[in-house]
Amino acid sequence: MRYSFATLSIVSLAAAHGMITSPAARQPGPAMAAACGAPAVAAAMSDPTNPLEDIDVSAATPQCKLDLCRGATFADNKDRMQTFTAGQVIPMKAVLPIPHEGPMNVSIIDTATNKAVAPPLISFKSYADENLATLPANNTAFSVTMPALKAGMCAQAGQCTMQWFWVGTKAMQTYESCVDFVMAPAAAAAAPAPAASPSVIFAAPPAPIVVARGFRA
Ligand SMILES: *[C@@H]1O[C@H](CO)[C@@H](O)[C@H](O)[C@H]1NC(C)=O
Ligand SMILES: *[C@@H]1O[C@H](CO)[C@@H](O)[C@H](O)[C@H]1NC(C)=O
Repeated sequence: MRYSFATLSIVSLAAAHGMITSPAARQPGPAMAAACGAPAVAAAMSDPTNPLEDIDVSAATPQCKLDLCRGATFADNKDRMQTFTAGQVIPMKAVLPIPHEGPMNVSIIDTATNKAVAPPLISFKSYADENLATLPANNTAFSVTMPALKAGMCAQAGQCTMQWFWVGTKAMQTYESCVDFVMAPAAAAAAPAPAASPSVIFAAPPAPIVVARGFRA
């Protein structure tokens, strides 16, 4: 069974609060229903941008990770995987139909520990301030730059997720959207293997010549 998320999001945005719309973020599905219960999926689907606090977890199992990605699972979202490289600038879009002032960040989260593996890629002390006449443009359209992670980090699908985390402080509401990604191995982007080095070509090279060749500007 396939959830018709797009249709639901259009009809229910009037009662909504916020979510990431680009890149494609995790959506509820059958694996979330198994972990968090059918009422949780129903609540998440009835308003795709409502806060964690509005998700009905009365039928949740211990496998439900509500505070990771609003309960949405990697298993339901394998077809939404992005591939990122270190230094890549990733434009992101959010909708904030009902803003609630508070902090926001986008961070790379290790899904096994629900902990950030690097400092936030972007953070706002004050985001979605409903007291402003108009929200700053960067509340709904911003970009993040993928950092260089240590080798192998986030290389496996499902290991990491890019989490948008916004708290409406006075509203006491928490919002999360997750963009799943893998880091492309650094080697894939590297130049082709260099030609054999002078020290290989010349079995017993005169050292000064090797240095001059290797470091010539
Ligand atoms: C992102 O913001 C949330 C909400 O304020 C906060 O709990 C979390 O620690 C922040 N993440 C990082 C990596 O600073
Ligand atoms: C967002 O835009 C506002 C107003 O232009 C600016 O003051 C603020 O520094 C920006 N925040 C971030 C995190 O880019």
